[in-house]
Amino acid sequence: MSRDLITMDDLSDDDIIGLLDDAARLVPVARGDVHLPLLEGKLLGNMFFEPSTRTRMSFETAMKRLGGNVINLGALASSSVSKGETLYDTMRMVDGYCDLAVLRHPRQGAAQYAADACTIPIVNAGDGAGHHPTQTLLDLFTIKQAHGRLDLDVTLVGDLRYGRTVHSLSHALARFGARLTLVSPETLGMPSEIVDDLKAAGSDITVSDDLQAQVATADVIYMTRIQKERFPDDDEYLKVAGIYQLSKSDLGGAKGSMIIMHPLPRVDEIDSDIDGTEHALYFEQAANGVVARMALLCRMLDADIPDEVTA
Ligand code: NCD
Repeated sequence: MSRDLITMDDLSDDDIIGLLDDAARLVPVARGDVHLPLLEGKLLGNMFFEPSTRTRMSFETAMKRLGGNVINLGALASSSVSKGETLYDTMRMVDGYCDLAVLRHPRQGAAQYAADACTIPIVNAGDGAGHHPTQTLLDLFTIKQAHGRLDLDVTLVGDLRYGRTVHSLSHALARFGARLTLVSPETLGMPSEIVDDLKAAGSDITVSDDLQAQVATADVIYMTRIQKERFPDDDEYLKVAGIYQLSKSDLGGAKGSMIIMHPLPRVDEIDSDIDGTEHALYFEQAANGVVARMALLCRMLDADIPDEVTA
């Protein structure tokens, strides 16, 4: 793979399959059943310029479960960012402290910019409305664990315009032969350049604004939050807020094996009455962030995972 992970283009199909296999082997380490300090002595810089719960915490968990250590940029108000320090200077500084840095930033393109400025590997943990490749790794892992394959009927729902998770995920799924149904209001459709890429990858794409019409045929329904913080003004957001909401009563015609995913946080997209059903996979999905990121960190920091990871 490339030194940095900025978009899914930095991973070949073989890289992706290899990382999913590695992630599966690391499950006992993520659970704490096996002590495997493959990253002892390594230091990760968590550089989050935007809110994060799962991504930041699962990178930290992954690193620490593998015996490594983590430093955090911390709250922006208490860092030199509040004194006007540039992203370039902040990243040059962390380049001298750490072995690898994870960056989340509100500006699209920020991760590539940081990678160009640094000598250490950079992982894009979300750049504005751009990409979120490590979320895709855990999403693919979750789908593969549930269905055993990736060439499925996958319905992506919600804010496909500003949602970076679906930009990265659709790209990867198209490469592995999934049939994609893109459900959004017209104003929040998948950017046309991404749709063109998906088609060029040979993917079968259907565009719709009707979620209920997909329930019977979908193998995966991937719900997303309307990305309020990316809207130019509140009025525009209010026109689409709450537009897609799934509750248990909507799932009558669904396949028994259909899984519902969500990168989280959810606002009102999935009613809590779904949480206890066999379809709900979003909390397992979040937990899978640890193994997926462990596999990635081992790969990027050149640590060899043993073939058998047993207690
Ligand atoms: C997503 C993100 O930050 O893009 N969250 C996450 O990493 N799990 C999704 C979102 O914020 O809606």
